[in-house]
Amino acid sequence: MNWTTAIEQTLRTTIANLSRFKTRFPHVSNGDGKYELLDHTSWTEGFWSGILWLSYEYTNDEAFREAAVQSVASFRERLEQDKQLDHHDIGFLYSLSAKAQWIIEGDEAAKALALQAADVLMKRWRSGSQLIQAWGAEGDPENGGRIIIDCLMNLPLLYWATEQTGNPDYAAAARMHAEKSRRFLVRGDDSSYHTFYFDPDTGHAIRGGTHQGFQDGSTWTRGQAWGIYGFALAYRYFQEPAFLETSKRLARYFIAHLPEDHVAYWDFDAPQTGGTPRDSSASAITACGLLEIVGHLSGDDPEREVLLAAAQRSMGSLIEHYFTAGSETEEGFLRHGSYSVRGGASPDDFVIWGDYFFLEALMRLNSGVPGYWYER
Ligand code: GLY
Repeated sequence: MNWTTAIEQTLRTTIANLSRFKTRFPHVSNGDGKYELLDHTSWTEGFWSGILWLSYEYTNDEAFREAAVQSVASFRERLEQDKQLDHHDIGFLYSLSAKAQWIIEGDEAAKALALQAADVLMKRWRSGSQLIQAWGAEGDPENGGRIIIDCLMNLPLLYWATEQTGNPDYAAAARMHAEKSRRFLVRGDDSSYHTFYFDPDTGHAIRGGTHQGFQDGSTWTRGQAWGIYGFALAYRYFQEPAFLETSKRLARYFIAHLPEDHVAYWDFDAPQTGGTPRDSSASAITACGLLEIVGHLSGDDPEREVLLAAAQRSMGSLIEHYFTAGSETEEGFLRHGSYSVRGGASPDDFVIWGDYFFLEALMRLNSGVPGYWYER
């Protein structure tokens, strides 16, 4: 598979998108191939920044840099105005925007902004139940003690904050959260819960459940993907073998449950009929996670080739069957992403995180550039 050609094709689409999106942020499409554009009202704005930074790194083209820097300025405003930051997705938002600028350019103001964002994320740490609360206000009756598997991808901002400041509190909270996620979200057969509820005062475990999955006990494909990548990143930071083993277990389950074209349905337990939606974004995220795992395995580890081949197979299929291949009219890279099938929200559409992780996986395969989750 020619990863370079695919990267070059994404650039064509991104250039066309620059003049369409201007200073706004693509979120998901709604059946018409056009992205809904937002202005800092969601968890997804960072993915467009991430696409711009990756595109800039690849090309050195100032047009991408200018748009990326402008997006970081808007992330600064978001933080100053405390706009839509009362959730745990601060890591997604600021890792791919401000932290990315710092990683690429060593920009001190961007670093300070990303550290401020880490402080905002820390406000969601609940010392009583020892977890990072995903959604809602402290004491919220539904969400007060709730974690979700997606949060594993927000934790790298905290690992990095400890590295940069020397303050161990960020990483300590993140480690307790990751460990709790490992114990309660991952099931004995290597599948996963999307969310888990704890008593907010005592931290006692109550039950697993789902938010976007097929049903409470099912395995929501994208959740499994967040787990694969998130635990692999936790391993990178803590070097705790249990985190790598957990990432591998989730990966084996994911690979073993793929349909013939190697791209996941939206939930591994959803009944499969001719019309069951895929979630191409879950496969793009998983490709990045598999490549992260592979980087931690020794050359003679027999699983290395298996996981690498699985990542390449899925990416090959995404390119062949799902990719818009440089379209200047369709706005996304990957067709057939699913935001929330049961909720009826973009159940078979472009989703901007799918595009981001697709490009990140291409960059990893092409030249080893790993995105902006950790300092290189
Ligand atoms: N993190 C939200 C989602 O994956 O839909």
